[in-house]
Amino acid sequence: MSEATRFAFGKNWRRFLNHLDEERIRTAEQSLRNMLGLDDLSGRGFLDAGCGSGLFSLAARRLGANVYSFDYDAESAACTIELKRRYFPGDGNWTVAQGDVLDGAFIESLGRFDVVYSWGVLHHTGRMWDGVEAVASCVEPDGHLFIALYNHQGWISAYWSWVKRAYNRGALFRAAAVTFHSPYLVGLRLAVRWGRGDFSLKRGMSLWHDLLDWLGGFPFETAKPKDVVAFVRARGFAETRVVTCGRRHGCNEFVFRREDAHH
Ligand SMILES: C[S@@+](CC[C@H](N)C(=O)[O-])C[C@H]1O[C@@H](n2cnc3c(N)ncnc32)[C@H](O)[C@@H]1O
Repeated sequence: MSEATRFAFGKNWRRFLNHLDEERIRTAEQSLRNMLGLDDLSGRGFLDAGCGSGLFSLAARRLGANVYSFDYDAESAACTIELKRRYFPGDGNWTVAQGDVLDGAFIESLGRFDVVYSWGVLHHTGRMWDGVEAVASCVEPDGHLFIALYNHQGWISAYWSWVKRAYNRGALFRAAAVTFHSPYLVGLRLAVRWGRGDFSLKRGMSLWHDLLDWLGGFPFETAKPKDVVAFVRARGFAETRVVTCGRRHGCNEFVFRREDAHH
């Protein structure tokens, strides 16, 4: 994967940070609590692999975890450092680094964590299954693995792959992709939510940033929920929560508990 076709997640995060407020942070905390089935994370080690803006690292830290955040992208890591500076200046229980989930030596150097969180990351690495294997190896016995991966939709996934590749090719393609898809990806979703009287933002992200992330996110792989479950089960885990998006595009979310201490 050449750098030219890699989506600059970090720049998008910088824009996102300017819009971050207390409500979004609380929404992120709630999503961690719900999915993990834990009220707080006091004293637990939390690895945020591919932390992006750092919002979920911040949420985990506020829930009491000792957090290690890393991202491949220097600007994403810088965003997370900025979040830490704003909310937990000088805190010794939150480390932020630049690192690659596919770098075996780096991953091994991190040790093990009670909670390993990698949301919407591994399908962007170019080697998704190696990425799943890597984050699974960081989970303590009895610990939790929380990952989210793009849903596999057959030919529709092939279409999105083409759009994402084009989006990263230049400004003209980018403008065309945004113009063509925003009525469906933003307009329709807003209309449906507002129709239901739902003005909240589920994971604390804004629809606009979701749109740019979705259109630009390349490399891009997808997986069927049953394949993810089988893959992670084979590594000594049992699923505790699976939330799929059915036949639609987007991320399926999985929480597993590590059962086998010998892996
Ligand atoms: C869609 S964002 C998700 C960010 C965050 N986890 C969240 O839930 O908001 C994907 C992130 O994965 C990072 N990423 C992509 N490949 C990576 C790799 N090989 N190692 C670490 N991070 C990576 C990107 O830089 C980007 O910040």
